[in-house]
Amino acid sequence: MFGARTHGPLPLQRKLPRGQLYLPDLRRIGQGIVASLAPPTRGARVDALEARFAGALESREAALFPHARVALLEILRALDLPPGSEVLMTPVTIPDVVNAVLVAGLRPAFVDLDERTCNMSPSSLVERASPAARVVLITHLSGLASPMAALVEIATTRGLVVLEDCSQAMGTRYRGKMLGTFGKAGFYSLSTLKPVASFHGGLAITDDAALAASLRRAARAMPVPTRRWLFTMFARDAILHAASHPLPFSIAGYYGMAALERLAPAIVDELQRGNIVYDAARRAARVKRKTELAASFFAAYTDAQAALAEGCLDAMDAGNRRRVELVTRLHEQLVAAAVPGLVRVNPLGSPTFWRYPLWTEDPEALRAALRRRGIDAARTNLCCASREPAFAEHAAATPNAVAFVDRMVFLPLHPNLDARDMDHVARAVIDHLRGPRKSG
Ligand SMILES: Cc1ncc(COP(=O)(O)O)c(C=O)c1O
Repeated sequence: MFGARTHGPLPLQRKLPRGQLYLPDLRRIGQGIVASLAPPTRGARVDALEARFAGALESREAALFPHARVALLEILRALDLPPGSEVLMTPVTIPDVVNAVLVAGLRPAFVDLDERTCNMSPSSLVERASPAARVVLITHLSGLASPMAALVEIATTRGLVVLEDCSQAMGTRYRGKMLGTFGKAGFYSLSTLKPVASFHGGLAITDDAALAASLRRAARAMPVPTRRWLFTMFARDAILHAASHPLPFSIAGYYGMAALERLAPAIVDELQRGNIVYDAARRAARVKRKTELAASFFAAYTDAQAALAEGCLDAMDAGNRRRVELVTRLHEQLVAAAVPGLVRVNPLGSPTFWRYPLWTEDPEALRAALRRRGIDAARTNLCCASREPAFAEHAAATPNAVAFVDRMVFLPLHPNLDARDMDHVARAVIDHLRGPRKSG
């Protein structure tokens, strides 16, 4: 069914980590370290980066926040909607995106994804939109553009404010137009493993000068973090970088990860979230309904972080293009072998593939088979909020969103990988799905 069986891996094939940090060049890292030695500030460097982001993302205005969830909360507050208004949104997200909606005094109403896509389904949006709906929050997962023409048309007909969560899709376009610019505002996460990362960080973009002024006022009122916090973040990312680079990963990291996957998978899960210290209490409280977001999320975005993000931003377009090249090679082999469960890409979008998703009946069996071939593939660490007990009041049937969380595996993808790595991944997937070779 899957075409001719391919050969096993070449003997010197390196091990492939599930994700890698995007770090700017050494000069930028040095600048970041020097900046972090001085008392933390939110100054000219952050202002300049806001202007650069606005330009790069084809928007009039930009404001930098400590987190994407905080950017969303401040956007919702600035919209000043009647309390209890509904925010139509897909449920595959971090729990605090749902909490930001609740903290703003609004109600989430969950809309399904389209099957084997990362995107909101227009027909589910129509079905779920009630007269109380005021906002549609469109999340573009994995660097894949949502069907914006249909979604914006529905929003316009119903007078909904359009917001876009582009945390996984910076620099992605739909019909040539930059995601994040289709509605009132777009927002982004600059957290670990994102192509533009600076320990933590959030960005809002908008063409609305009044909204931008309000967002910048809110961002500038946040207290700067301590020098110790900045150092801890540098140390954390240095460790994660060392652990997730293919060379050290091939020598040591892979074996550690494989052992942890067997003995303590929860620790691997936390590492994927950027938590290098395992905290059982934090894990237990991960999907929790909140009346406010933790105060620690409101520490101002600093000049030291801006120094890192600037370098990542310089490399963003080249990185996006490189991932597309690599994914095209992988995808074509999987298509040729008639592998089931392939992602359905909207032909009007220009995807940047932050990750490459593959749906399968038994994700753990696929992950184990790939691990045996030296490939560390991950599940998503996002939740499906529409079925979480913490948000039971807003529960909704969203089968495609459930399938994204329960049946999807991300294959490794990073600009650091090469064509040979992609061939190795394709071969491992095809071999696993073909099953054991029949003798005779
Ligand atoms: C789709 C999406 N939205 C929001 C967030 C939240 O980002 P932050 O940690 O910056 O609040 C993330 C983080 O991974 C994300 O993937």
